[in-house]
Amino acid sequence: MMDNSFRALRITEDESGNFSRNIISRTIDELPEGDVLIKIHYAALNFKDALSSIGNKGVTRKYPHTPGIDGAGVVVESKVGNFNPGDEVVVTSYDLGMNVDGALSQYIRVPAKWVIPLPEGINLKESMIIGTAGLTAAISLYKMERNGQKPEHGPIAVSGASGGVGSMAVSILAKAGYQVIASTGKEDCYDFLKKLGATEVVDREYINDDSSRPMIKPKWAGAIDTVGGNTLATLLKGCKPTGSVAACGLVGSPNLSTTVFPFIINGINLLGIDSANYPLEERHYVWAKLANEWRLSNLDDIVTDCSLDELDPYIEMMLKGETKGRIVVKM
Ligand SMILES: NC(=O)c1ccc[n+]([C@@H]2O[C@H](COP(=O)([O-])OP(=O)(O)OC[C@H]3O[C@@H](n4cnc5c(N)ncnc54)[C@H](OP(=O)(O)O)[C@@H]3O)[C@@H](O)[C@H]2O)c1
Repeated sequence: MMDNSFRALRITEDESGNFSRNIISRTIDELPEGDVLIKIHYAALNFKDALSSIGNKGVTRKYPHTPGIDGAGVVVESKVGNFNPGDEVVVTSYDLGMNVDGALSQYIRVPAKWVIPLPEGINLKESMIIGTAGLTAAISLYKMERNGQKPEHGPIAVSGASGGVGSMAVSILAKAGYQVIASTGKEDCYDFLKKLGATEVVDREYINDDSSRPMIKPKWAGAIDTVGGNTLATLLKGCKPTGSVAACGLVGSPNLSTTVFPFIINGINLLGIDSANYPLEERHYVWAKLANEWRLSNLDDIVTDCSLDELDPYIEMMLKGETKGRIVVKM
């Protein structure tokens, strides 16, 4: 018989609109309705979780709430035939951790259509080192290649390279045979990024053109951007003809000021990436790539391990852009 109580991160809002974070005890019957009850073994901390943890209503509308968009564990109960108790599974994104209680918790209950079997060749912890960040980086490259990107076209620039999506993008691109220009604001991450496979590491100002020119001398053949704002605008105007730029994130700014010239003179593709609602069938395909041809042997270099009790300082660091690689939480 399963013990009915478990531990979870809980964000609460008081009447004055102030938010607080605590590790509390909850019971299984307090979890939302769903097809599959999962005991979480590992979760991860993402930028979205950090925002949800401070009461960002663009991410989470209602509190109290438990963040955590990434979780991996074992099925305890299932109302559907395709999952059985004991199955190892992964849940990333959809509404998990946004408006449905998330995986920074020892148990979650979710719709079956959000759950994928743990891909063969990856263990539960590895699936969380990859997590939404790795899936996002992999979807970006997959989409770029579908639009014709090839290693022989030249290097791919990655912005916010030391972060979760960035470090996974650098590693996956290197594994797939690309040269990588990794851009970072952290002087102490140059060796880390080289070790992940970057051929060149540059200061983030290198991808921050402040001239009013609509295009600049091409420096990269494509890009994966986690920053937005002028970084994304610079990636577009400095991209070699026919290259693809995948727009994933907004840590710098949600705005984009550009001209149409990169598109109509150089044929640049601006590719939008939304891993949260990425279709299940393609999600399986991309996970299979991550478990096979894009399988990374250096996942241990990317991860910082912590427990639920040790998580709080990492939330603060992530909001300031100070974390490195992936933060994985052993539940
Ligand atoms: N589209 C999707 O499906 C999807 C999925 C996952 C994440 N995202 C988005 O992708 C972004 C990154 O997420 P993450 O989980 O990788 O976050 P993260 O681990 O916190 O990484 C963000 C990195 O961006 C850089 N950075 C931080 N503040 C910056 C600033 N003001 N200007 C320029 N660079 C800055 C830092 O790296 P350096 O010091 O190396 O520059 C930082 O480590 C977020 O906006 C997130 O919401 C989108």
